[in-house]
Amino acid sequence: MVVFFILGFSAALGLALLYGMAAALGPRAPRLRRALLVLALLPVALRLVAGTVLVSVDRLLAADFVPLALPPLVAAVCLAPPRGRPAVWRVRGAAFAAIEHLLVTFSPPAPPYLVPAMAVPALLLGFALAARRWEAVMAGGRLAPRWKALVASGAALAVVAAGGWSAAASRLPDRMSMASHSSHDMGHGHGAHGIDISTLTGPRDREPDRRFTLTARRTPATLASGQRIEAWTFNGRLPGPELRVRQGELVEVTLVNRDVTAGVTVHWHGVDVPNAEDGVAGMTQDAVPPGGRHVYRFVADRAGSFWYHSHQQSAEQVERGLFGALIVDPARSSPRGEDLAVVSHRWTSPDGNVTALSLAGGTPSGSVSHRAVRPGGQVRLRLINADSHLRAFALSGVPFAVAAIDGTDLGGPTPLRNERISVPGGGRYDLTFTMPDRPVQLRLVRGDAGVLLSPTGRGDLAPATPGPDFDPASYGRPAPTPFDKGRFDRHYTVVLGQSFGFYDGRFALRWTIDGKTFPNVPTLMVRTGDLVRTTFVNRSFADHPMHLHGHRMLVLSRNGHAVSGSPWWSDTLNVAPGERYEVAFRADNPGLWMDHCHNLAHAGAGMTMHLAYEGYESPYEIGRATANQPE
Ligand code: C2O
Ligand code: CU
Repeated sequence: MVVFFILGFSAALGLALLYGMAAALGPRAPRLRRALLVLALLPVALRLVAGTVLVSVDRLLAADFVPLALPPLVAAVCLAPPRGRPAVWRVRGAAFAAIEHLLVTFSPPAPPYLVPAMAVPALLLGFALAARRWEAVMAGGRLAPRWKALVASGAALAVVAAGGWSAAASRLPDRMSMASHSSHDMGHGHGAHGIDISTLTGPRDREPDRRFTLTARRTPATLASGQRIEAWTFNGRLPGPELRVRQGELVEVTLVNRDVTAGVTVHWHGVDVPNAEDGVAGMTQDAVPPGGRHVYRFVADRAGSFWYHSHQQSAEQVERGLFGALIVDPARSSPRGEDLAVVSHRWTSPDGNVTALSLAGGTPSGSVSHRAVRPGGQVRLRLINADSHLRAFALSGVPFAVAAIDGTDLGGPTPLRNERISVPGGGRYDLTFTMPDRPVQLRLVRGDAGVLLSPTGRGDLAPATPGPDFDPASYGRPAPTPFDKGRFDRHYTVVLGQSFGFYDGRFALRWTIDGKTFPNVPTLMVRTGDLVRTTFVNRSFADHPMHLHGHRMLVLSRNGHAVSGSPWWSDTLNVAPGERYEVAFRADNPGLWMDHCHNLAHAGAGMTMHLAYEGYESPYEIGRATANQPE
């Protein structure tokens, strides 16, 4: 299916190329030109096939294929040429179609498509009339060269002016409330009388069970491979210290910012903390400036693998190292055997980038690190992807199970061998096995980083070629879920896309939601207690690990096929190009929450929206005139 998706887009490219070549030939070489035009019909056919297949999967995937691709195609093929100049005109029509296809492919318009669908034929007509008139004028020889120059520079000026205008219009305001923009289907419940979310804190009236301090500072550091990096760290460690607590404990973390100029926060990724503890700069708190501090308190009520990271200028701050593992051990049963968090991250350094794995207490390493593990014991490897991109792992030397995804145990996990485990950016997968008396090795599928476990802490194991992709949608034992008989109170459809254009004053590849970028993406509005269904459709070329703060999503279906294995809960769900996921969550954690792509560069280029409970408001703001940056 993804194949068809890509196919449709590449067909547009091929079409453009062939048409462009034919157009460039102009009236010369009629045979060659005709051949090219005929060849160009092949991508047209491909694009139509792809469009048809995509419609059958989900009409949203193909929504603009038909209304926008068909008219210019038809025009290009059957454009009635003026008498006497058939070839030139046909080629022109084709060139127009090619340009339009390219634009639509890389900058797809958002629904409703009526306006663009009507604008395209109108433009085509205008283009034809203008060209015809121009030709008449030229043929009359009535236009002096300086007029030609004037017309040309006038047109160029208009283009530049239009560009400048859209650049200026795209500038984000100097300050704005993160939660005061348009909503999906209703007006804003929260006005002057909304509940202030800064009051939604964790328990403040009793002694915490655990206390930690995280001090953010700039730290020149060296990776195990010798690369020097200008890191930003918590407590001078890369990644930050692993926080391990027990389920039910009241955790208090004091964040101190020593010298990170832009300010720092801590977001507890995957932990459904009360809203005011969520660590989102400009929404749930102000970024902590150098010299400042902030105290977080929350009850770790679910056992599982989580992580924490700064949520101020996330793309840069996480990339530089302001993150760490957060593990909540189950209330009962102390972990027997080995329980290891393995954090993967891509570090950028002047002498090249390294994708490294880190174990608690160790330095990030781009090669294989060794650990001694007693045979016969249970091993739990908690894979945490602190990166923006999907990371594939291979575990060889032992049958294993996927015990949990995003901090929620799977039911009835069965043994796997060699399956490739892909962890979305921001996601967590726990692998468990019984330690054999031979070496076991976890490797990145791409890159050299790995962890070798063996009875002696030495030894070697040739990395096995990873097998098929592990599919969470059909793994484990089905079980009833709280939403089975759910009548959903709301249904939102979220179309993930891309387009070229200006974002905050700069020309960029914008990552869009429903064709819009933050802050213009409509907010998902809910009422406390609502059961909410969301459909994600990805019609862009990249993966989008969608992360909802403060809630877990139950995955209902992928590409129209219901999840058939264990209930699959996720807080960071990777939606690949051409995929459609349906998820559901209960709106049971009031406040204002982020819902964004955890490819943090995408989030920073528009792919960010909010989930807002009616009747809540934030006293904080983001923008240039505040300390808080949008992403
Ligand atoms: Cu892990 Cu909004 O982020
Ligand atoms: Cu994305």
